[in-house]
Amino acid sequence: MHHPTLCAVAVAVLAALPGAQAGLYSKKSPVLQVDGTSYDRLIAKSNYTSIVEFYAPWCGHCKNLQPAYEKAAKNLAGIAKVAAVNCDEDENKPFCGQMGVQGFPTLKIVRPKKGGGKPMVQDYNGARTASGIVDAVVQAINNYVVKVEDKNLDKFLDEKKESPKALLFTDKGTTSSLLKAIAIDFSDVITVGQVRNTQTKAVEKFGITKFPTLVLLPGGDAPAVTYDGELKKEALVTFLSQAGSPNPDPAPAKGKAEKKKTEKKPEKKAEKKAEKKSAKEEEPSSSAADSETETATQKAPVIVETALPIPTINTPEKLIKECLTEKSHTCVLAFVSSSENDSAKKALESLAQLSFKYAQGKRHLFPFFEVPKSTDGAGSLLKALDLNNEVEIIAINARRGWWRHYEGTDFAHASVESWVDAIRMGEGSKKKLPEGIIAIAVEEASSAATPEPEPTPATPEATESSSVADEPTPVTPEASSSSEASESTETKPTDPTPEAETAAEHDEL
Ligand SMILES: *[C@@H]1O[C@H](CO)[C@@H](O)[C@H](O)[C@H]1NC(C)=O
Ligand SMILES: *[C@@H]1O[C@H](CO)[C@@H](O)[C@H](O)[C@H]1NC(C)=O
Repeated sequence: MHHPTLCAVAVAVLAALPGAQAGLYSKKSPVLQVDGTSYDRLIAKSNYTSIVEFYAPWCGHCKNLQPAYEKAAKNLAGIAKVAAVNCDEDENKPFCGQMGVQGFPTLKIVRPKKGGGKPMVQDYNGARTASGIVDAVVQAINNYVVKVEDKNLDKFLDEKKESPKALLFTDKGTTSSLLKAIAIDFSDVITVGQVRNTQTKAVEKFGITKFPTLVLLPGGDAPAVTYDGELKKEALVTFLSQAGSPNPDPAPAKGKAEKKKTEKKPEKKAEKKAEKKSAKEEEPSSSAADSETETATQKAPVIVETALPIPTINTPEKLIKECLTEKSHTCVLAFVSSSENDSAKKALESLAQLSFKYAQGKRHLFPFFEVPKSTDGAGSLLKALDLNNEVEIIAINARRGWWRHYEGTDFAHASVESWVDAIRMGEGSKKKLPEGIIAIAVEEASSAATPEPEPTPATPEATESSSVADEPTPVTPEASSSSEASESTETKPTDPTPEAETAAEHDEL
């Protein structure tokens, strides 16, 4: 610290040093550790803006930066990537050289190019404080959020009508980092827009009464769904995932590292044993760490909340195609005469929740459909099965020729779930489908038109092909900047959206 030049050792000299020291960031650190090999995949090809610290464990300024850097990483969890490369490791030395690193620490902001290609790499020479770093990184986050106003609302809604959209209604004029992050997660999957509370036509159209409110438009004619869960990234992403899978590379979430430590992962048995052992040996410190972890888990977003309605079958062709061909697997069908009826509402909501729960756990479950009784063919099917209540839920497997009836009169989530569980487990008895039941439906359908075309799923194309890094720009060694440096950064804000938030608010909509 007293001799800043000590840290400004040329990389070439480093090579001559004996064995490398352990890195500054432990496995538990919120700072993502990258090396020459993983940089390309985790940083250069990411859709997320990153900041990367090139450091050496023996460098005093690097040690001084560590707490602020970890704080920045926590603050930017789920929003941007905060990474570090230990340039003291032999295998990283050529990479640090390639990146033009001449002194430690060197901080670089890596901003992906919209539409793919090599990212922009820019040195961060601002204050070595958490807020200085966070502000600069947040400025460099790409903004894919569309500003929607009354006058372009229809255009926004009509464009790519079949594909899902999300609209955030907000009383803010700026776009939050969190919403930008969500738009990045779902880039090319869900179009994300933002509407200000002053846009009365839009606000009225969606019946918005509080701000912020997120509305999901699943696409096509599917009705809009208003989210009423927690306004935290994980919960929001889970909700939106019902309409399309997020891109494969999210910014690391809060508490990810801690979770890894305690989660019961079978493949990490050996590690766990070792941990247990050391827990015994160092009772006080490790129990402190455990209680920290528990708080983190407790704070983790609770599971949702707003499930998308199950899809509707309202033509006989669709009924046959989805559930009644001789190759059809199990389908759950909820026959309702009016979705306004309380029992019907409850039944449909329970099925939606259940379907959501499975989707979220990425578990496979047979499809659920709502079938209005007015659908051609529905009446004769119900009659053949001797079903005549207001709401009837059945499971049907045309391939194996069986069906099962939900006997309950209460359509609460738990009752419906245990019925579905029994089917999944193959428990309980199946009824044989009456002879010719498929023929009945087919006959009803035969007069109708050709089957509807399947909506083609959006296939996100991988357009990126960036190589390791941009030409490394020479770095001014360490000496000039100190941690007391002014708050202004030299990283140019290229985003037109003004960002007024303080460092503490980036996880809010
Ligand atoms: C980046 O976004 C594109 C869509 O814009 C997507 O196809 C791609 O998978 C994303 N990349 C990663 C690494 O998530
Ligand atoms: C729903 O259906 C049940 C059973 O037919 C009926 O008793 C009830 O009045 C209906 N409720 C509404 C709101 O239509």
